[in-house]
Amino acid sequence: MQTQPHPGRILETATAFWASKALLTAVELDLFSVLGDAGMTAEELGARLALHPRGTYDFFDALVALGFLDREGDGPEGRYRNTLDTRTFLDRNSPAWIGGLPEMFNARLFGFWNHLGTALKTGQPQSEVRTHGKPIFEELYASESKLGQFLEAMTGAQAANFAALAEKFDFSAYQTVSDIGGALALLSRVIAARHPHLRFTSFDLPPVAPHAQRHIDAAGLGARIQVVSGDFFADPLPPADVITMGNILHDWNLEKKKLLIAKAYAALPEGGAFIVIENLIDDARRENAFGLLMSLNMLIEFGDAFDYTGADFRAWCSEAGFRRFDILPLEGPASAAIAWK
Ligand SMILES: C[S@@+](CC[C@H](N)C(=O)[O-])C[C@H]1O[C@@H](n2cnc3c(N)ncnc32)[C@H](O)[C@@H]1O
Repeated sequence: MQTQPHPGRILETATAFWASKALLTAVELDLFSVLGDAGMTAEELGARLALHPRGTYDFFDALVALGFLDREGDGPEGRYRNTLDTRTFLDRNSPAWIGGLPEMFNARLFGFWNHLGTALKTGQPQSEVRTHGKPIFEELYASESKLGQFLEAMTGAQAANFAALAEKFDFSAYQTVSDIGGALALLSRVIAARHPHLRFTSFDLPPVAPHAQRHIDAAGLGARIQVVSGDFFADPLPPADVITMGNILHDWNLEKKKLLIAKAYAALPEGGAFIVIENLIDDARRENAFGLLMSLNMLIEFGDAFDYTGADFRAWCSEAGFRRFDILPLEGPASAAIAWK
């Protein structure tokens, strides 16, 4: 129990945007891809990134201090290198690249979060909807480059969670999986690789289909993963033994959440499983800071959308007719919540 006041945590959080923006800017400049496997002096790296000399040492050394670069030697002779993490996840030539996510944070959310106070006072979204008046997906999907950026970002957010789900959930009793809002069919690709007996449908809006198909073909999984286009509010969901929704329910208000849960119930056979993969908030709403901040992010993005607890999921699914429930912790703040019909 703390007895003396200390300002450290207040100041650390108050300035957390400095560290955040330094990392996001490094991604924006593609610093980690430029470095690749090489070691470069500050002068060499600064020249490759076309930076003014004033900031180079401060910028690169701050990234060293934050743990996002290594440096051999000091001063002008010092050579900067990627860390194991940045080489794996932020060098765009790596197969495990997740840079789409920080790119999206930088290009969209960093600016939108400037308007958190307005969002809290008005309950209104502060994303593209505020400036353009268009629904978020329409806005994103109107531009080929924003669509690509958004889909890659989703991939970065969920890859480790889908791998954990493939390990932790017992898929042996099931034959078919429909992933609703499947984006680039990542869930299908990851679980298909781990469980060869399963067949998948990845369901999403029509503009997403060619992007998903390209990734499926590249993975050689075309015979086991079918891409189906549709609107999950207007169309029935493709029936399957397991229905999955990764970060789908949190995009919508309560009425639409319940509609999607009812549609999942309708698409499942008796004994079928409905699995959501989200940053589930702990039931007491005290611990999962990431999940709670994600819910504020949904306010910024959509207005009435919100993240939820395992108890909320259970209550809504019970109302829809589901009978048995479980929660599997996945990576970090994410969990899978499961309801059986
Ligand atoms: C937040 S992303 C989640 C993507 C992926 N499931 C994951 O876990 O990373 C939401 C997805 O829902 C899709 N989506 C949004 N509205 C939709 C609709 N009305 N019908 C079908 N898919 C929709 C989007 O295209 C996007 O791929």
